[in-house]
Amino acid sequence: MSTQPLVLTKQHGIATLVLDRPERMNAVNFETLLALHAALENVAGDGEVRAVIVTGAGEKAFCAGADLKERATLTPDQVRRFLKGIREAMDGIENLPKPVIAAVNGLALGGGTELALACDIRLAADSATFGLTETTLAIIPGAGGTQRLPRLVGKGRAKELIFTGRRIDAAEALAIGLVEEVVPADRLLARAQELARHIAENTGPVAIAQAKFAINHGSEVDLATGLAIESKAYELTIPTADRTEALKAFAEKRKPVFRGE
Ligand code: COA
Repeated sequence: MSTQPLVLTKQHGIATLVLDRPERMNAVNFETLLALHAALENVAGDGEVRAVIVTGAGEKAFCAGADLKERATLTPDQVRRFLKGIREAMDGIENLPKPVIAAVNGLALGGGTELALACDIRLAADSATFGLTETTLAIIPGAGGTQRLPRLVGKGRAKELIFTGRRIDAAEALAIGLVEEVVPADRLLARAQELARHIAENTGPVAIAQAKFAINHGSEVDLATGLAIESKAYELTIPTADRTEALKAFAEKRKPVFRGE
């Protein structure tokens, strides 16, 4: 059994974050939260990392949300601190200037579904289960779920899911747009790596960062403001060496080599 609650590995420009508390269904306690913050800081500052995969250890759970055993021991102020920390971690994923792929390998309940929602692209194992179950614990989703779920699946569907705390399987998650793709459980990580590799090997890092920025910020405002955000984001790609390299490679009929500058 690993003693680290979260394991960060890097290979060929792809960072993989694995929640590693399978005996607790990869539930997030304070220690995991600290490790998550450190891992995000590490990945954000590493120019070699072109894409990130977030997944859970074991076959049963992606993440069963907050650690309810730890929660039972916390004072109200400690709960507030935990919530602040988990919200900041979710924002950190959403604002990371790199693509983040959730590989949801099993149960994703409460904060587990919220973690997937904070990622850019969600792949689910056919065995995965999603649910914002917090109202059944007399609380509400506190790591962005009340905001990110309706933006992805619509207000009515989000209310139905949050008000009932109903769990849904991977097929329903796909049907309502909560995930982008469902794959057989034994192919999930390979598919996430394939997608991450495709992005890492074929795209300019500044372009990806700016596309993510434009989509994240532009989709929350009126169209004219969104288009202005897109225009500013495009502007940042124009002086890059990668853009010049892409044009040169096109003329020379070869694959461009992007350096993120
Ligand atoms: N926090 C802490 N421990 C958790 C946990 C959580 N969120 N979810 C599961 N575990 C622990 C269980 O307590 C159990 O440990 P134990 O054997 O020492 O008691 C172990 O993980 C396995 O869980 P178990 O309940 O035996 O497995 P299961 O397959 O029957 O059910 C779940 C799994 C995830 C459906 C069930 O544990 C559950 O509903 N957990 C709560 C999930 C939740 O509501 N999360 C939202 C939090 S806001």
